Amino acid sequence: MFTLAYLSDPHIAPLPAPLMRHLLSKRIFGYINWRASRKNIHDRRILDAITQDMAAQGADHIAVGGDLVNLALPDEFTGAHEWLRTLGTPEQVSVIPGNHDAYVPLDHDTGFGQWMAYMTTNVSDVQPPPSGTGDFPYIRQFERVALVGLSSAVPKPPFIASGKLGAEQIATLNGILQDLGQRDMFRIVMVHHPPLQGLSGKRRGLDDVQELEEVLQAAGAELVLYGHRHVHALDTLACDPPAPVVGAASASSSHDSIDKQARYYLFRIWRKGKAWKCEMTVRGLTSAGGSVTALEKQMLMG
Ligand SMILES: [Fe+2]
Repeated sequence: MFTLAYLSDPHIAPLPAPLMRHLLSKRIFGYINWRASRKNIHDRRILDAITQDMAAQGADHIAVGGDLVNLALPDEFTGAHEWLRTLGTPEQVSVIPGNHDAYVPLDHDTGFGQWMAYMTTNVSDVQPPPSGTGDFPYIRQFERVALVGLSSAVPKPPFIASGKLGAEQIATLNGILQDLGQRDMFRIVMVHHPPLQGLSGKRRGLDDVQELEEVLQAAGAELVLYGHRHVHALDTLACDPPAPVVGAASASSSHDSIDKQARYYLFRIWRKGKAWKCEMTVRGLTSAGGSVTALEKQMLMG
C-alpha cells in the first residue's frame, strides 16, 4: 500500500510587507485584493492545523498543488521554502507551481526555481523532457506508483489568472503517460489549473485545456489532481478505464461555504490481483475554530 497526501493552494500568510518598488506591477492589484478580501480567507493557523494533522497520518509522500505564495514577493519565496522544509525533504515532498507563484515575470532563481529540489524527477530510467520544455513534466516514481508534475504557471496580465502548459509539455506528458501505462504503473497527474474543459472560465482556466484533456483521455491516467479553484470537487476523466479527477479546496481557507473549507486528501493505493484500488480520505475543518477531522472516505477505484 502506498499513501499519498495532497494539499493545494496554501497561499501562505501573513503576507510580508511589500516594498513600493515591488508593487509597481500587477502586484498592486493583487495587494489591493489581498487587503480587501484574501487576507481574511487564508489563515496561517488553519494551514498549520492542516499540515500538523497531515504529518500525523504518516503518508509515504506529500504532494503540493501550487499557489504557495500570493504576490510573488521575494520574501514569500524564501518563506515558502522554509514552510516546505517543515513538510519534509525534497525526497518526501513534490511541488508544482501555481499562477500566484508566477504572478509577475521573475528570474528562475528569484522565483519558484528556489524550490526546484521539490520539483525534480527521481528516477533515471525515464526519458528526460526534450530541451525547451524546461523542467516539466517531472516524474516521481515510488515502486509502481508514479506522480507526474506539470507546470501551468506563466505570468499573465492583471485580472487574468489563466495558465498554459504549451505544446511541448503536453507532448512530453503524452509520451510519459504512454510509457508508464505500458509498464502498468499507477499514474497520478498533478496540475494546478483544472484539467477538464468546463471547470473554469477562460480568464481563470488553462489556455490549452482541450489539448491536455485530449492527451489525458487518449494516454490515460489513474488519478488527476488539481487546485486553483479553491473548491473541493470530484469529476471523471473519460479515459479507459475512467479516472477520478480531484479538485482541492485551499489548505488555508477559512471560507464558511462547505466546499471551500480547508481540506487535504489522503489517497491509499494498492494492487489487488491485476486491478488497482484507490481509496480517498478527505480531512479538514468544518469551522474555522474547529479541529481537523475525517470528512469523507470513499473508494475511487476498485
Ligand atoms: Fe490559488
